[in-house]
Amino acid sequence: MGEQGKEPFRVTLGVSAGISIYKSCDLVRRLLERGCEVRVVMTDHATRMVAPVTFQALSGNPVITDLFAGAGDPSIAHVELAKWEQLLVVAPATANVLAKFARGLADDFLSTHYLASTAPVLLVPAMNGNMWRHPATQENLQLLSARGHHLMQPGRGQLACGDYDDGRLPEPASIAEQALHLLQATGRMAGLKVLVTAGPTREPLDGVRFLTNRSSGKMGYAVAREAALRGARVTLVSGPVALDAPVGVERVPVTTAEEMEREVGARFPESDILVMAAAVADYRAKAVTAGKRKKGTAGAWAPELVPTSDILKALAPAKRPGQFVCGFAAETSDLKANALQKLREKRLDLIAANDVSKEGAGFDSDINSLVILAPDGSEQRVPETTKASCASALWDAILEARGEG
Ligand code: CTP
Repeated sequence: MGEQGKEPFRVTLGVSAGISIYKSCDLVRRLLERGCEVRVVMTDHATRMVAPVTFQALSGNPVITDLFAGAGDPSIAHVELAKWEQLLVVAPATANVLAKFARGLADDFLSTHYLASTAPVLLVPAMNGNMWRHPATQENLQLLSARGHHLMQPGRGQLACGDYDDGRLPEPASIAEQALHLLQATGRMAGLKVLVTAGPTREPLDGVRFLTNRSSGKMGYAVAREAALRGARVTLVSGPVALDAPVGVERVPVTTAEEMEREVGARFPESDILVMAAAVADYRAKAVTAGKRKKGTAGAWAPELVPTSDILKALAPAKRPGQFVCGFAAETSDLKANALQKLREKRLDLIAANDVSKEGAGFDSDINSLVILAPDGSEQRVPETTKASCASALWDAILEARGEG
């Protein structure tokens, strides 16, 4: 059983043609042991490495190998599978499959099914080290990660080509654990109203110029997407970013800190949980010059900056029992001490601190690491991983702190 007394979890396992395909056979067994029902989809090349009958015998279900095979109407088989599944796992995911998924190509059953699927997706890449590092593969991974898919990092070790390098498929037991974790999280937050903020704010100086910061909104969007995947009703108050609203999330676009304060304030009373991931500008121009300020205007331009109001601090007195507020702390030094001070000053229930001075992580990156701190000073570290996985760990911590873990 998937969970005690409940129906089994329903997993589609996509298998593409990597040498590590033999580990996928073991993965089927491990998923079954953990109470999953598994349906296997193989690419054409994969069937040349392992016969479909092997996966059929292991899973106890017919294996789908091409668009026109199998019983029923072939044109809708992938849609039916999409309705059935609760999770799509692809292991091994080759560079070719990642490229097809990233670009939306649909020329076989697996890639067509991916487009029809609305379930959470766990991708487990495995390939030669050079293929893994190639900018084309890395760009595709970025696209897939920004889409909210969960990616497991390949391990390092002896590869089929003889090289000692990155690119190994992780062990089946850890893939099965990750799959189970995602399945257990799905739907856990049904009935909860969640308010998330994300992105920077823009504070105008004149008709064409503004003050802002380097926030891309990716972390906040990942937090909103994860809550929606877990079944919560999510509203995302977002500063100006270049991201699509996550599926199923109501987005409220704002520009300035003042607008963000108004929209958050209006929705806070009816929310169960607020996660304030936005990088709100701390200063705005006292007076905004009308139109475009001309260069010829006498002397240096020293617009007077005044503080914006602190949205979280202002909300603290309005907090009712049972409401939960989680802040973020962007720090460049003394991470823990500074974050704990913010937690106490803003009367937060939890704070997720990130070191924004780290090269390649934090602002505008697809990866991040967090230190999640509670009012009693206890901490949980989330080592460098995708923002989707950071968001998942943050929700685990929030639900645990609320006694709903
Ligand atoms: N925050 C807010 N209103 C502001 C500024 C920040 O609600 N005007 C929130 C952020 O969304 C975040 C938390 O407060 O959840 C901490 O933000 P951060 O930028 O790390 O710190 P600041 O409070 O602005 O302090 P400092 O700039 O001194 O680090």
